[in-house]
Amino acid sequence: MPRVPATAETIDQAALLLRDGRLVAFPTETVYGLGADATNGMAVAAIFEAKGRPHFNPLIVHVPSLEQAASLGQFGSLAHHLARAFWPGPLTLVVRQVAGSPIADLTTAGLDTIALRVPSHPVARALMIAAQCPIAAPSANRSGHVSATEAHHVEADLGPRVAMILDAGPSEQGLESTVIDATGTLPVLLRPGGITAEEIARVTGVASVRAADVTARPISPGQLASHYAPGAAVRLNATNVAPGEALLAFGPSGPMHAGPTINLSPSSDLREAASRLFAALRELDASGVRGIAVMPVPETGLGAAINDRLRRAGAPR
Ligand code: TXA
Ligand code: MG
Repeated sequence: MPRVPATAETIDQAALLLRDGRLVAFPTETVYGLGADATNGMAVAAIFEAKGRPHFNPLIVHVPSLEQAASLGQFGSLAHHLARAFWPGPLTLVVRQVAGSPIADLTTAGLDTIALRVPSHPVARALMIAAQCPIAAPSANRSGHVSATEAHHVEADLGPRVAMILDAGPSEQGLESTVIDATGTLPVLLRPGGITAEEIARVTGVASVRAADVTARPISPGQLASHYAPGAAVRLNATNVAPGEALLAFGPSGPMHAGPTINLSPSSDLREAASRLFAALRELDASGVRGIAVMPVPETGLGAAINDRLRRAGAPR
Protein backbone atom coordinates (compact mmCIF):
# COMPACT_ATOMS: atom_id res chain seq x y z
CA MET A 1 0.00 0.00 0.00
CA PRO A 2 1.97 3.04 -1.14
CA ARG A 3 -0.14 5.77 0.53
CA VAL A 4 0.53 6.14 4.25
CA PRO A 5 -0.11 8.91 6.77
CA ALA A 6 3.03 11.00 7.30
CA THR A 7 4.40 10.14 10.76
CA ALA A 8 7.93 10.18 12.20
CA GLU A 9 8.15 6.49 11.36
CA THR A 10 6.87 6.62 7.78
CA ILE A 11 9.03 9.69 7.08
CA ASP A 12 12.10 7.68 8.15
CA GLN A 13 11.01 4.81 5.89
CA ALA A 14 10.51 7.25 3.01
CA ALA A 15 14.00 8.68 3.61
CA LEU A 16 15.51 5.20 3.35
CA LEU A 17 13.60 4.57 0.12
CA LEU A 18 14.94 7.85 -1.34
CA ARG A 19 18.49 6.95 -0.40
CA ASP A 20 17.91 3.61 -2.07
CA GLY A 21 17.09 5.35 -5.37
CA ARG A 22 13.30 4.91 -5.11
CA LEU A 23 10.55 7.49 -5.72
CA VAL A 24 8.60 9.04 -2.85
CA ALA A 25 5.68 11.45 -3.19
CA PHE A 26 5.59 14.00 -0.39
CA PRO A 27 3.57 17.06 0.60
CA THR A 28 4.85 20.60 0.26
CA GLU A 29 3.00 23.85 0.99
CA THR A 30 2.44 24.32 -2.76
CA VAL A 31 1.60 20.91 -4.29
CA TYR A 32 2.66 17.30 -3.75
CA GLY A 33 6.12 16.55 -5.15
CA LEU A 34 7.38 13.38 -6.82
CA GLY A 35 10.77 13.08 -5.16
CA ALA A 36 14.04 11.31 -5.89
CA ASP A 37 17.63 11.69 -4.71
CA ALA A 38 18.83 14.56 -6.93
CA THR A 39 22.37 13.14 -7.00
CA ASN A 40 21.22 9.77 -8.40
CA GLY A 41 20.73 9.91 -12.18
CA MET A 42 18.94 6.57 -12.34
CA ALA A 43 16.47 7.67 -9.66
CA VAL A 44 15.84 10.96 -11.49
CA ALA A 45 15.30 9.03 -14.74
CA ALA A 46 12.60 7.08 -12.88
CA ILE A 47 10.81 10.41 -12.18
CA PHE A 48 10.54 11.13 -15.92
CA GLU A 49 9.49 7.55 -16.54
CA ALA A 50 6.76 7.74 -13.89
CA LYS A 51 5.49 11.09 -15.18
CA GLY A 52 5.44 9.84 -18.75
CA ARG A 53 6.82 13.15 -19.96
CA PRO A 54 7.89 13.11 -23.62
CA HIS A 55 10.85 15.40 -22.92
CA PHE A 56 13.34 16.15 -20.14
CA ASN A 57 12.90 19.45 -18.40
CA PRO A 58 15.01 20.66 -15.49
CA LEU A 59 13.64 19.81 -12.04
CA ILE A 60 13.53 21.80 -8.81
CA VAL A 61 15.98 20.63 -6.15
CA HIS A 62 14.58 20.81 -2.62
CA VAL A 63 16.91 21.40 0.32
CA PRO A 64 16.30 22.12 4.02
CA SER A 65 18.26 25.39 4.32
CA LEU A 66 19.88 28.30 2.52
CA GLU A 67 23.21 26.94 3.72
CA GLN A 68 22.55 23.66 1.87
CA ALA A 69 21.33 25.56 -1.17
CA ALA A 70 24.53 27.61 -1.19
CA SER A 71 26.57 24.39 -1.32
CA LEU A 72 24.92 23.56 -4.66
CA GLY A 73 24.39 26.96 -6.28
CA GLN A 74 26.22 30.26 -6.46
CA PHE A 75 24.24 32.80 -4.46
CA GLY A 76 24.97 36.36 -5.51
CA SER A 77 23.48 39.26 -3.57
CA LEU A 78 20.13 39.10 -5.44
CA ALA A 79 19.67 35.38 -4.73
CA HIS A 80 20.73 35.85 -1.10
CA HIS A 81 18.31 38.68 -0.66
CA LEU A 82 15.37 36.74 -2.11
CA ALA A 83 16.23 33.61 -0.15
CA ARG A 84 16.32 35.54 3.11
CA ALA A 85 13.02 37.21 2.35
CA PHE A 86 11.01 34.18 1.18
CA TRP A 87 12.62 30.93 2.40
CA PRO A 88 11.32 28.64 3.64
CA GLY A 89 8.41 29.10 1.25
CA PRO A 90 6.96 28.91 -2.26
CA LEU A 91 9.86 30.54 -4.11
CA THR A 92 12.29 28.73 -6.42
CA LEU A 93 15.56 30.42 -7.29
CA VAL A 94 17.53 29.61 -10.42
CA VAL A 95 21.25 30.22 -9.87
CA ARG A 96 24.51 28.97 -11.41
CA GLN A 97 25.68 25.58 -10.20
CA VAL A 98 28.86 25.36 -8.15
CA ALA A 99 31.82 23.65 -9.80
CA GLY A 100 31.92 19.93 -9.07
CA SER A 101 28.26 19.82 -8.02
CA PRO A 102 27.05 16.35 -6.95
CA ILE A 103 23.68 16.93 -8.65
CA ALA A 104 22.95 14.50 -11.51
CA ASP A 105 23.05 15.97 -15.03
CA LEU A 106 19.54 14.74 -15.70
CA THR A 107 18.17 16.73 -12.73
CA THR A 108 19.17 20.00 -14.38
CA ALA A 109 18.69 18.61 -17.91
CA GLY A 110 22.34 19.37 -18.60
CA LEU A 111 22.05 23.08 -17.76
CA ASP A 112 24.80 24.87 -15.85
CA THR A 113 22.15 26.46 -13.66
CA ILE A 114 20.05 24.87 -10.92
CA ALA A 115 16.59 25.60 -9.53
CA LEU A 116 16.58 25.48 -5.71
CA ARG A 117 13.81 25.71 -3.17
CA VAL A 118 13.52 25.45 0.62
CA PRO A 119 9.92 24.35 1.28
CA SER A 120 8.21 25.27 4.54
CA HIS A 121 6.01 22.19 4.91
CA PRO A 122 7.06 20.35 8.10
CA VAL A 123 6.80 16.91 6.44
CA ALA A 124 8.95 18.03 3.50
CA ARG A 125 11.47 19.47 5.95
CA ALA A 126 11.58 16.32 8.08
CA LEU A 127 11.98 14.16 4.97
CA MET A 128 14.87 16.25 3.61
CA ILE A 129 16.64 16.17 6.96
CA ALA A 130 16.15 12.41 7.38
CA ALA A 131 17.17 11.61 3.79
CA GLN A 132 20.30 13.78 3.96
CA CYS A 133 20.25 14.25 0.22
CA PRO A 134 18.89 17.03 -2.00
CA ILE A 135 15.51 15.97 -3.38
CA ALA A 136 14.59 16.55 -7.02
CA ALA A 137 10.82 16.85 -7.29
CA PRO A 138 8.42 17.97 -9.97
CA SER A 139 4.71 18.06 -9.20
CA ALA A 140 3.44 14.53 -8.50
CA ASN A 141 1.18 14.07 -11.51
CA ARG A 142 1.34 12.32 -14.87
CA SER A 143 2.49 14.58 -17.69
CA GLY A 144 -0.34 16.76 -18.97
CA HIS A 145 -2.50 16.23 -15.87
CA VAL A 146 -3.14 18.89 -13.24
CA SER A 147 -0.80 19.11 -10.25
CA ALA A 148 -1.74 16.92 -7.31
CA THR A 149 -2.82 18.79 -4.19
CA GLU A 150 -3.98 15.72 -2.26
CA ALA A 151 -2.28 12.39 -1.62
CA HIS A 152 -5.16 10.41 -3.10
CA HIS A 153 -4.78 12.40 -6.35
CA VAL A 154 -1.17 11.20 -6.46
CA GLU A 155 -2.28 7.65 -5.80
CA ALA A 156 -4.88 7.77 -8.56
CA ASP A 157 -2.44 9.32 -11.05
CA LEU A 158 0.85 7.56 -10.29
CA GLY A 159 -0.20 4.54 -8.18
CA PRO A 160 2.42 1.79 -8.13
CA ARG A 161 4.98 3.94 -9.97
CA VAL A 162 5.94 5.42 -6.58
CA ALA A 163 7.36 3.42 -3.67
CA MET A 164 5.55 5.52 -1.05
CA ILE A 165 3.13 8.44 -0.85
CA LEU A 166 3.33 10.44 2.39
CA ASP A 167 -0.17 11.73 3.10
CA ALA A 168 -0.44 14.95 5.10
CA GLY A 169 -3.81 16.14 3.84
CA PRO A 170 -4.53 18.78 1.20
CA SER A 171 -1.79 21.23 0.14
CA GLU A 172 -2.19 24.60 1.79
CA GLN A 173 -1.56 26.70 -1.34
CA GLY A 174 -2.42 24.44 -4.26
CA LEU A 175 -0.36 26.57 -6.63
CA GLU A 176 3.21 25.84 -7.67
CA SER A 177 6.13 27.93 -6.47
CA THR A 178 7.16 31.13 -8.21
CA VAL A 179 10.34 30.54 -10.24
CA ILE A 180 12.81 33.44 -10.41
CA ASP A 181 16.01 33.55 -12.42
CA ALA A 182 18.45 35.09 -9.93
CA THR A 183 21.62 34.55 -11.96
CA GLY A 184 21.90 38.24 -12.85
CA THR A 185 21.52 41.50 -10.96
CA LEU A 186 17.77 41.84 -11.66
CA PRO A 187 15.13 39.21 -10.92
CA VAL A 188 13.48 37.61 -13.97
CA LEU A 189 10.15 35.82 -13.60
CA LEU A 190 10.30 32.36 -15.19
CA ARG A 191 7.02 31.03 -13.76
CA PRO A 192 4.35 32.91 -11.83
CA GLY A 193 3.25 31.23 -8.61
CA GLY A 194 2.48 31.56 -4.92
CA ILE A 195 4.64 34.65 -4.43
CA THR A 196 3.62 37.52 -6.68
CA ALA A 197 5.84 39.59 -8.95
CA GLU A 198 4.76 42.63 -6.89
CA GLU A 199 6.13 41.04 -3.71
CA ILE A 200 9.41 40.23 -5.48
CA ALA A 201 9.64 43.80 -6.80
CA ARG A 202 8.97 45.31 -3.38
CA VAL A 203 11.60 43.20 -1.63
CA THR A 204 14.28 43.76 -4.28
CA GLY A 205 13.47 47.43 -4.80
CA VAL A 206 12.91 47.17 -8.56
CA ALA A 207 10.03 49.02 -10.22
CA SER A 208 8.68 45.86 -11.82
CA VAL A 209 9.85 42.32 -12.38
CA ARG A 210 10.56 41.42 -15.98
CA ALA A 211 9.04 38.17 -17.21
CA ALA A 212 11.28 35.96 -19.30
CA ASP A 213 10.24 35.82 -22.91
CA VAL A 214 8.75 32.47 -23.78
CA THR A 215 11.62 31.38 -25.99
CA ALA A 216 14.08 31.77 -23.10
CA ARG A 217 12.12 29.47 -20.81
CA PRO A 218 13.38 25.93 -20.63
CA ILE A 219 9.92 24.46 -21.17
CA SER A 220 11.94 21.74 -22.69
CA PRO A 221 15.71 21.61 -22.98
CA GLY A 222 16.95 22.93 -26.26
CA GLN A 223 14.33 25.66 -26.34
CA LEU A 224 16.51 27.57 -23.95
CA ALA A 225 19.05 29.72 -25.76
CA SER A 226 21.84 29.02 -23.28
CA HIS A 227 21.09 25.33 -23.12
CA TYR A 228 23.99 23.05 -23.83
CA ALA A 229 24.06 21.99 -27.47
CA PRO A 230 26.96 20.03 -28.87
CA GLY A 231 29.16 21.76 -31.43
CA ALA A 232 29.50 18.46 -33.26
CA ALA A 233 26.76 17.47 -35.71
CA VAL A 234 24.46 14.81 -34.24
CA ARG A 235 23.28 12.13 -36.67
CA LEU A 236 20.38 9.98 -35.44
CA ASN A 237 19.46 6.37 -36.20
CA ALA A 238 22.98 5.70 -37.42
CA THR A 239 23.91 2.17 -38.45
CA ASN A 240 27.50 3.05 -39.36
CA VAL A 241 30.12 5.54 -38.21
CA ALA A 242 31.60 7.95 -40.74
CA PRO A 243 35.22 9.18 -40.65
CA GLY A 244 35.61 11.92 -38.03
CA GLU A 245 32.51 10.87 -36.10
CA ALA A 246 32.23 9.63 -32.53
CA LEU A 247 29.80 6.82 -31.70
CA LEU A 248 26.97 7.11 -29.20
CA ALA A 249 25.88 3.50 -28.91
CA PHE A 250 22.85 1.86 -27.33
CA GLY A 251 22.38 -1.83 -26.64
CA PRO A 252 24.60 -4.90 -26.76
CA SER A 253 25.60 -4.82 -30.43
CA GLY A 254 26.49 -2.09 -32.87
CA PRO A 255 29.03 -0.91 -35.40
CA MET A 256 32.70 -1.38 -34.48
CA HIS A 257 34.42 1.92 -33.91
CA ALA A 258 37.99 2.70 -32.91
CA GLY A 259 37.37 6.39 -32.15
CA PRO A 260 35.57 8.01 -29.20
CA THR A 261 32.66 5.75 -28.19
CA ILE A 262 30.16 5.81 -25.34
CA ASN A 263 27.42 3.25 -24.86
CA LEU A 264 24.35 4.78 -23.21
CA SER A 265 23.31 1.35 -21.99
CA PRO A 266 24.87 -1.92 -23.15
CA SER A 267 21.86 -3.76 -21.66
CA SER A 268 19.33 -1.49 -23.50
CA ASP A 269 18.07 -0.08 -20.19
CA LEU A 270 16.35 3.23 -21.05
CA ARG A 271 16.62 4.49 -17.46
CA GLU A 272 20.38 4.01 -17.56
CA ALA A 273 20.53 5.63 -20.99
CA ALA A 274 18.60 8.69 -19.75
CA SER A 275 20.88 9.06 -16.74
CA ARG A 276 23.98 9.06 -19.00
CA LEU A 277 22.67 11.10 -21.91
CA PHE A 278 23.79 14.64 -21.05
CA ALA A 279 27.25 13.67 -19.81
CA ALA A 280 27.76 11.46 -22.86
CA LEU A 281 26.89 14.24 -25.33
CA ARG A 282 29.21 16.63 -23.54
CA GLU A 283 32.07 14.15 -23.36
CA LEU A 284 31.89 13.11 -27.01
CA ASP A 285 31.65 16.72 -28.07
CA ALA A 286 34.71 17.58 -25.98
CA SER A 287 36.71 14.92 -27.80
CA GLY A 288 36.78 17.34 -30.74
CA VAL A 289 34.97 15.15 -33.25
CA ARG A 290 33.19 16.58 -36.26
CA GLY A 291 30.01 14.63 -35.63
CA ILE A 292 28.29 12.15 -33.35
CA ALA A 293 26.63 9.06 -34.84
CA VAL A 294 23.79 7.95 -32.57
CA MET A 295 22.47 4.40 -32.81
CA PRO A 296 18.68 3.98 -32.83
CA VAL A 297 16.99 4.29 -29.43
CA PRO A 298 13.47 2.85 -29.17
CA GLU A 299 10.68 5.43 -29.03
CA THR A 300 8.96 3.66 -26.10
CA GLY A 301 8.82 4.89 -22.48
CA LEU A 302 11.80 7.08 -21.63
CA GLY A 303 13.04 6.56 -25.18
CA ALA A 304 10.66 9.28 -26.37
CA ALA A 305 12.33 11.87 -24.11
CA ILE A 306 15.81 10.62 -25.02
CA ASN A 307 15.03 10.88 -28.74
CA ASP A 308 13.46 14.30 -28.26
CA ARG A 309 16.70 15.54 -26.69
CA LEU A 310 18.82 13.92 -29.40
CA ARG A 311 16.66 15.42 -32.16
CA ARG A 312 17.12 18.86 -30.61
CA ALA A 313 20.87 18.29 -30.37
CA GLY A 314 20.88 17.33 -34.03
CA ALA A 315 18.62 20.12 -35.27
CA PRO A 316 20.29 22.77 -37.44
CA ARG A 317 21.14 25.92 -35.52
O1 TXA B 1 5.78 24.21 -6.13
C1 TXA B 1 6.63 23.65 -6.84
O2 TXA B 1 7.53 24.29 -7.38
C2 TXA B 1 6.53 22.12 -7.00
C3 TXA B 1 6.80 21.50 -5.63
C4 TXA B 1 6.81 20.00 -5.68
O3 TXA B 1 7.99 22.01 -5.10
N1 TXA B 1 7.46 21.65 -7.99
C5 TXA B 1 7.31 21.92 -9.33
O4 TXA B 1 8.27 21.35 -10.14
O5 TXA B 1 6.40 22.57 -9.77
P1 TXA B 1 8.17 21.26 -11.75
O6 TXA B 1 9.26 20.30 -12.20
O7 TXA B 1 6.79 20.91 -12.15
O8 TXA B 1 8.53 22.70 -12.24
C6 TXA B 1 9.88 23.11 -12.33
C7 TXA B 1 9.94 24.49 -12.97
C8 TXA B 1 9.73 24.41 -14.46
O9 TXA B 1 9.01 25.53 -14.89
C9 TXA B 1 11.18 24.44 -14.97
O10 TXA B 1 11.27 24.88 -16.29
C10 TXA B 1 11.81 25.40 -13.98
O11 TXA B 1 11.22 25.07 -12.75
N2 TXA B 1 13.27 25.17 -13.86
C11 TXA B 1 13.90 24.14 -13.24
N3 TXA B 1 15.22 24.25 -13.37
C12 TXA B 1 15.46 25.36 -14.08
C13 TXA B 1 16.65 26.02 -14.55
N4 TXA B 1 17.86 25.53 -14.30
N5 TXA B 1 16.49 27.14 -15.26
C14 TXA B 1 15.27 27.65 -15.50
N6 TXA B 1 14.11 27.09 -15.09
C15 TXA B 1 14.21 25.96 -14.40
MG1 MG C 1 4.47 20.44 -12.96
